Amino acid sequence: MQVALDEIINRYKAGSRESLLPLLQDIQVEYGYLNEEAILKVGKHIKLPSSKVYGIATFYDQFRFVQKGKFHIKVCRGTSCHMHGSLSLLKEVERVLHLKEGQTTRDGRFSLEAVSCMGACGSAPVLNVNGYFKTAVTIPDIAQIIDFYRNLI
Ligand code: FES
Repeated sequence: MQVALDEIINRYKAGSRESLLPLLQDIQVEYGYLNEEAILKVGKHIKLPSSKVYGIATFYDQFRFVQKGKFHIKVCRGTSCHMHGSLSLLKEVERVLHLKEGQTTRDGRFSLEAVSCMGACGSAPVLNVNGYFKTAVTIPDIAQIIDFYRNLI
């Protein structure tokens, strides 16, 4: 069961600005992203304008502002995967799903994220869907992988 936003926020002392990052991290762990309500409530709680909360959060790559899809696709953009064409894979996922990196499809089924090395360089290029690795991926594989997950829904 999901922990209520207010319950997470109230774990931290009101007015404590040093709580900002751990508080945002806790919310993201629970919800998977930071929405407008969370930014506003956090700002109110630690007495920091919400524009500043948002500005600080956007500085860190770890925070997302869009809810992940049911299937979250990570395309590795580390050096080895880059050398094996991962940029083309990323563009192909964008083309097939009609979205851009960092976005979620309107139906909420898929989201796409470019990430740094996932530790499987020997099998580059790699992508990962909900924790499952796909290795030595080729451009034609992309449509097949996406179709596979579409058919699971
Ligand atoms: S660079 Fe892609 S897994 Fe290491």
